[in-house]
Amino acid sequence: MNVPLLDVNAQNGPLESALKEAFERVLKSGQYILGPEIDQFEQQVAKVLDVRHAISVSSGTDAILLALMALGIKAGDEVICPTFTFFATAGCIARTGATPVFVDSDPTSFNIDPKSIVAKITPRTKAILPVHLFGQPADLETILRIANEHNLHVIEDAAQAFGATYRGRPVGTFGAFGTFSFFPSKNLGGFGDSGLVSTNRDDLADLARLLRTHGSRPKYYHKFVGANFRMDPLQAALLGVKLAHNSTYNKKREANATYYTERLSGISGVRFGTAEGRIILPANSSDSGHIWNQYTIRVLGNGRRDLLKTHLANLGIGTEIYYPVPLHQQECFAYLKQHSTGFPVANQLASEVLSIPIYPELSDAQKDHVISGIESFLN
Ligand SMILES: Cc1ncc(COP(=O)(O)O)c(C=O)c1O
Repeated sequence: MNVPLLDVNAQNGPLESALKEAFERVLKSGQYILGPEIDQFEQQVAKVLDVRHAISVSSGTDAILLALMALGIKAGDEVICPTFTFFATAGCIARTGATPVFVDSDPTSFNIDPKSIVAKITPRTKAILPVHLFGQPADLETILRIANEHNLHVIEDAAQAFGATYRGRPVGTFGAFGTFSFFPSKNLGGFGDSGLVSTNRDDLADLARLLRTHGSRPKYYHKFVGANFRMDPLQAALLGVKLAHNSTYNKKREANATYYTERLSGISGVRFGTAEGRIILPANSSDSGHIWNQYTIRVLGNGRRDLLKTHLANLGIGTEIYYPVPLHQQECFAYLKQHSTGFPVANQLASEVLSIPIYPELSDAQKDHVISGIESFLN
């Protein structure tokens, strides 16, 4: 049996006629930059997130860059972020000229370890950029408290967490900005690259909109140096079709996670959190409305993770390693010598994590195949 890591056609196929209708609407409108499709999508997202402003952009990467630019982050500044995340989080900090300052991870949630943040704050620190990794909210209470005490901005990298909640409120609405990605593998997966920034502050929303089109207002009069960060109306129209189904998709992912957890935890050698075991299942804190962009297990023992990956591949099961190299070890950040050591948890996670298929359309038979594949590996 084939169980791919992700099957976008299984999700998009049933929406074919609505997607075609959206495509034709844009085609016939003749409006291919900004306009009503963008306005409507932004209004819909603002409603879903319960936030004052949703500003669509070209990608999740550009969303982070735009948020940093709108907050005036520049050369000489430092921005604190996790080392165990996708590259864009720190890449965008570096692109502003600022220095990414890496923090180790919490071994249970995989998110930035709030206990390690304060020691990294210096007079140059301007912001904290936590990531809601794999769809699970970071410890926002502690992060926001630290940020308030030290007068720092918070930008939430919610690329993997559209629709996730922290104590009942959507993530991406707590900090100065939230940033989202609609890359096809995300819970709200688009048809190419696109993203969004959210904010409750009118002044920041206005600035972000300005910077999204080269800082010009009116046209050809440039108050700031921005960039072209616009989402296409076609993308907005297609995403609008899927947005209506997003909470159903998220619920199905959650049901899949529960299915895995209930059955895998019955297998000898499988444990939770930081308990001893040969395979550790992902934990879900009571504060978090996790949306399970990934179901990521830890496989303990030297080389065992890679062996499991191969074992599952031989059974037709797709998996992925998010992420094999923490950012403090990346070649492009070798110049950050002061940050090259001291990340024991992230280093360990990079050698142990394996994400298994969790997409909403998985059948029970497919999930059972994954479960029995893991069981046969342990036996
Ligand atoms: C945590 C995180 N941040 C940022 C991004 C960047 O998003 P995009 O690929 O849409 O540029 C991603 C996407 O993979 C991500 O997972």
